Amino acid sequence: MNTKTTVISQQQLQEQFSYCDKIAAYWQQRSRAPKAFVETYGCQQNEADSEKIRGYLTQSGYSIVSEAEGADVVVLNTCAIREHAEQRVFGNLGALTHTKRRHPEQKIFLCGCMAGQTQVSDRIRKSFPHVDGVFSTHHLWQFPEILWRVLSLHKRQFYVADEPGSIAEGIPQVRDSGLKAWVSIMYGCNNFCTYCIVPYVRGRERSRQPEDILAECRDLIAAGAKEITLLGQNVNSYGKDLSLNMDFADLLAAIAQLPGDFLIRFMTSHPRDASHKLFDTMAKYDKIAKQLHLPFQSGSTRVLKAMNRHYDRETYLEKVLYAKQVMPDLVLTSDVIVGFPGETEEEFEETISLIQAVRYDSLFTFIFSPRPGTPAASMADPTPREEKNRRFDRLCAIQNAISEEIHQSYVGRTLRCLVDGREKNQLTARTEGGRLVRFAGEDNLIGTYQILTITGATTWSLTGSLEA
Ligand code: SAH
Ligand code: SF4
Ligand code: F3S
Repeated sequence: MNTKTTVISQQQLQEQFSYCDKIAAYWQQRSRAPKAFVETYGCQQNEADSEKIRGYLTQSGYSIVSEAEGADVVVLNTCAIREHAEQRVFGNLGALTHTKRRHPEQKIFLCGCMAGQTQVSDRIRKSFPHVDGVFSTHHLWQFPEILWRVLSLHKRQFYVADEPGSIAEGIPQVRDSGLKAWVSIMYGCNNFCTYCIVPYVRGRERSRQPEDILAECRDLIAAGAKEITLLGQNVNSYGKDLSLNMDFADLLAAIAQLPGDFLIRFMTSHPRDASHKLFDTMAKYDKIAKQLHLPFQSGSTRVLKAMNRHYDRETYLEKVLYAKQVMPDLVLTSDVIVGFPGETEEEFEETISLIQAVRYDSLFTFIFSPRPGTPAASMADPTPREEKNRRFDRLCAIQNAISEEIHQSYVGRTLRCLVDGREKNQLTARTEGGRLVRFAGEDNLIGTYQILTITGATTWSLTGSLEA
């Protein structure tokens, strides 16, 4: 694998914009206002990428619609993290044969993390002839070119070469929300956890220049954003590839010093690189939310080693203890994998004892899913599926009880929350720690901070009322 990062020049980007112009002219000639639908699977990184795909489509004259039926372009931005995620995409891709039959001009694209796997692009070539284009995350910046080639050459396009990854500044974005914004600070991952497909489909770690990130944050704040979430697979290794005198904590501090009323969140932190300096920086600035997503994956040092995680149970616990010490109100969440190959009952119990010791506010729980090409996929895995399911259910039950207890302890507190939307007859808001609060109120409160008194709690959310 080639490992050198490519920086996309402004000239290369201009070429892409000229493809946008050609596409817009193509539709004008046909006196048609084209429509596009972009469906996103997977993590926030993919959400952020979809905002760029929508940006390019908008610049090419498409209006963005919310269903595939009748759309001239359909883009599925996919996730490869677990087998189930891929099966869903193949299912939905199959269903698009019907929308295309009803609207034969429809052009269908598959991109994102699944598109970076040779076996997936080969399967699309052979078994999904209604798909017009496939492009991996490395080729996202070329989407206008790919779309134009499909429209003008009437030939399927596959942009799936194995590349180290690129950085492109200045791709237009159509954001989902003006209130809450994603800002990718880096792309790719160098960690090669033995179960994980991400380094293979997203390439090597590459950081954006701090001035580009700060300029984007400044623009977002000026446009009214109240929450900025910094994204990267391992934000704590930000800048290591840039030979700068700046690490992730320094970047956070620089953003926190921008003027304006906003909160910064970030994900994901790899425990190996999470430092006391990071926690001290979080504690120091009011504009950094006291919220930390610190995936531990397993409570067993032996399993962590087999996962290639580069930390052990004790180091992890020490870091969490320090973070809680300097941020008593910290909302802590995590990811955990149950049934990693060879995980014994005792090792699973170490995961249980870790969650009982840490008491996470909430946990994302996964059963190990073998990913072709990763080392863990060929490790001996004698534990039957039923046993893994049993462990998984036990873990969820224990965590749900903890989440509910923590939520109950909110009742009676008054918290400043950002009102972010409406669900049926209630408004929704987020606490600084990212907890969901539902309460009664008028739509004109959406986009403002309000003081809410917490009146009730469940495992998943809180209810509140506006301060009189
Ligand atoms: N970069 C992040 C995680 C990204 S993937 C980190 O390192 O923490 C999100 C989560 O999916 C991971 O934390 C892990 O818990 C889970 N995951 C990744 N690969 C998996 C696999 N093969 N099977 C089951 N869960 C997996
Ligand atoms: Fe995957 Fe590990 Fe990288 Fe996270 S740090 S994306 S789990 S390889
Ligand atoms: Fe999935 Fe890719 Fe994110 S594999 S979890 S969409 S980085």
